[in-house]
Amino acid sequence: MSTPHINAEKGDFAPAVLMPGDPKRAERMARYLMPEAKLVTDVRGILGFTGEVNGKPLSIMASGMGQPSLSIYVNELFMEYDVQRIIRVGTCGGISSRVKIGDVIIANGAHYEGVINTYWVDGIHYSAIADFELVRAAAAAAEDDPNVVVAPIISRDRFYGVSEAENRALAANGTMGVEMEAGALYGLAAHYGRQALAVLTVSDHLFASDSRDMTAEERESNFQKALKLAVAAAHC
Ligand code: HPA
Repeated sequence: MSTPHINAEKGDFAPAVLMPGDPKRAERMARYLMPEAKLVTDVRGILGFTGEVNGKPLSIMASGMGQPSLSIYVNELFMEYDVQRIIRVGTCGGISSRVKIGDVIIANGAHYEGVINTYWVDGIHYSAIADFELVRAAAAAAEDDPNVVVAPIISRDRFYGVSEAENRALAANGTMGVEMEAGALYGLAAHYGRQALAVLTVSDHLFASDSRDMTAEERESNFQKALKLAVAAAHC
């Protein structure tokens, strides 16, 4: 059995899937968390792995960039592979002065642009929100770390061509970061009655003039921190 974009057998995926955007990151996460993991799909270089962490099954598969790409994989995982929860582990650009590079955002909601969630219910401003149980588990695993926030982000369909005014207005209205996938993920989880969350590391800041790139050590410890929160949500 396979789907148009996943050449795994039924039963090859764990009930919980971690989903970075980048396929190379999926491979790196799998190697870090579960060295014995089995490769279960490789269509278009979107590698998927299944193994165990602390004796519990876990899968890791990339989404590619953007809500349309993510939607293809998430639809197929929910429809055909009986996946119950998907945790996006990715990056975002910071837009609020309340976050800085290296912070982790547990996105409890995702504003979005475009039509990706508008077809669920006619004439309604649909709320793309994370699953509460997963938010709670990830937040608890953060243990009051001051560099972790629970807050909404914006999932855009454009990386280029967004005016500064648009992002500043969102920041002025409580939005912490900008990325391109979570809104569709949350809408699909609600549609299929499953659970979803995005745990996002602030990889760059659009407005902080004093921001500097993370060192290699900071990148590594942030990678491990985001993964710890994501695994806590995956296995709660
Ligand atoms: N825009 C959109 N998506 C992103 C960004 C950004 O600045 N940074 C990381 N993902």
